Amino acid sequence: MPSSHKLLFARHVEDRLASTRALLGELGYDSLLIHSGRAEFRLFDDQAPPFRAHAAFASWLPLPFAEDCLLEIRVADRPRLWFLQPRDYWHLPPSPPADWWQDAFDIELVEEREQWAECFDRSRALAVIGRRRDLAEQLGGAELNPSALIAGMAEARTVKTGWERECMARANDIAARAHLAAADVFESGGSELEIHLAYLAAAGQDQDQLPYNSIVALNEHASVLHYQHRSARRPSSARSFLIDAGADFCGYAADVTRTWTMPENRDFDDLLDAMERVQQGLCKQITAGISFVDLHRQAHLDIAAVLEQAELVRMSPEEMVESGVSSYFFPHGLGHFIGAQVHDVAGKVDSDGQPLPPPERYPFLRLTRRLEPGNVLTVEPGLYFIPILLEQLKASAFADRVNWSQVEGLVPLGGIRIEDNVLVTEAEPVNFTRQSFNRIQD
Ligand code: GLY
Ligand code: MN
Ligand code: MN
Repeated sequence: MPSSHKLLFARHVEDRLASTRALLGELGYDSLLIHSGRAEFRLFDDQAPPFRAHAAFASWLPLPFAEDCLLEIRVADRPRLWFLQPRDYWHLPPSPPADWWQDAFDIELVEEREQWAECFDRSRALAVIGRRRDLAEQLGGAELNPSALIAGMAEARTVKTGWERECMARANDIAARAHLAAADVFESGGSELEIHLAYLAAAGQDQDQLPYNSIVALNEHASVLHYQHRSARRPSSARSFLIDAGADFCGYAADVTRTWTMPENRDFDDLLDAMERVQQGLCKQITAGISFVDLHRQAHLDIAAVLEQAELVRMSPEEMVESGVSSYFFPHGLGHFIGAQVHDVAGKVDSDGQPLPPPERYPFLRLTRRLEPGNVLTVEPGLYFIPILLEQLKASAFADRVNWSQVEGLVPLGGIRIEDNVLVTEAEPVNFTRQSFNRIQD
């Protein structure tokens, strides 16, 4: 790690400590214990899904895969990490603490989790973050996941520290490299599985390390918003390719989508160019003070204008948005906060923790706040040809406004999504994803 990372990380911990201590004082707690979590077997099985620490822990320590660790934060002392390194010959224990992060903590290396159980008895007013099933025996009179504390800590996470920004910029570098490798395999006719494996190889990360399950969708699969399979069969005709795949850097996520096509699909290629312009226009509007709900509405208007210009729908953009027709083609939200978890916390509350529900018409919008400097969010407009939604549109009062032969001709290409990760600043937004692609392609 470069020495600048050590400094950024130390400042990150100081920053989080200051806000957490203030919160503990305000809420009357002496100390806080954050448990990293524990893998859980499937029912009647001795196999567990790959373990990942929850983000309330991973946003303090670059240990996203460390099980059964405990971070102790007291109002006065330095934070202390009870770092479990079991003497286990079945599994590889986590690496010992690294120089660049360990100075920010007092570290107790423990071989068994019973060795940190004593922490639970030391405080008068103790708050604990973790799962009841993992901690039931130790809890005693401690308060588990108190909502005011959880909400306050989530609020602090909405403004990213320098360290977090650096992590997400580096995660985007990894993702951009891997996206370009994936596109090459699409162009040479590879299967979804071959593309996926090329992505992982180029990222140097296995699927378990990535912040979410990659969506690797050829042709009509691109219209399945969370398409979850990766077919091993090579397509007889590779028409379009949507890949939504991220990367991890020290527990922080990139969440990137690109859509590709072959030049012979002229109409789809034109739509792709138009959506690229829409996405870039929206990214430029990511400035402090704007309402993300307003920007989501703007995205609907912009996408509706694409549908009108392509003569897919004979309605003005305003009419399309007003009537809800645009939602048949763009049914998800424009974006979400991103950080130590891909859909990061506190997107739908105000800074006092009061709910900010999305408008009834846009129930899937995950970010409803006004943006402020330090927020990092995704901007991911989409335009899809989803058979289930097209059937509903065909049954609606607006069916005769749609150029069905052209729309149905686009169904085998699935759809388009373009997704970047953008930092809000006092001035121009910083688009981590474009910076990463530009660095590689220059
Ligand atoms: N990859 C999940 C999302 O874009 O929100
Ligand atoms: Mn996303
Ligand atoms: Mn995504």
